[in-house]
Amino acid sequence: MEIKKSEFKFAIFNINNLTEIDLPTICIIGRSNAGKSSFINTIVGKKKFAYVSSTPGKTRSLNFYLINDQFFFVDFPGFGYGAISDLTKKGWNELIDSFFQLEKVRKYIFFLIDCRRQPDNIDYEFIDYLREKKLPIVYILTKIDKIPKSKVSGIKSIFVESFNCDKNLVIPYSSLTKEGKEKVLNYIERIVLEN
Ligand code: GTP
Ligand code: MG
Repeated sequence: MEIKKSEFKFAIFNINNLTEIDLPTICIIGRSNAGKSSFINTIVGKKKFAYVSSTPGKTRSLNFYLINDQFFFVDFPGFGYGAISDLTKKGWNELIDSFFQLEKVRKYIFFLIDCRRQPDNIDYEFIDYLREKKLPIVYILTKIDKIPKSKVSGIKSIFVESFNCDKNLVIPYSSLTKEGKEKVLNYIERIVLEN
């Protein structure tokens, strides 16, 4: 599919401010600095669309982007960033939790993880939480340009095993080289068609 139109719609800090959403909603989730905003930018083909931070952990809201008038991307706050106070963390978890409680929103998960990292307890906890909610998850291994080409398929296999998922659901990705972009667009096309 081709992305022809993309616009920032709104940001919410509180679930009560969420207006009705009647389009499939793709949640971009992952640790702080995983490459979420860069991912959105490269998929829509705009350099400064979603905010790319030099300070990790800056995005505190859920940011909604309407794409092709067909679906939403939601840029999530990165989790696992140490410098956030417990209080902020609590408000942030509440926002996320209340969003995932909303049954009316048709949610799909893109779980982003830096391909050089090992998933840790926080990643697994979040994934378990999403699986309990029966949400479809695709795993995007970001910054794949940082590792030699010869190692990509081995790294992919390790993640397939760690996440215990189908190999087609793990997509190596680079915001620099655009590797993986076609695969992601094909997947999104299927989401749009089934809705
Ligand atoms: P938070 O909003 O803080 O949670 O971060 P984020 O997940 O949105 O990450 P962001 O897109 O801001 O990227 C973090 C850093 O990683 C930036 O310096 C990006 O330029 C860099 N980065 C993101 N994707 C890639 C990639 O595919 N390759 C390389 N080499 N760098 C990347
Ligand atoms: Mg971001």
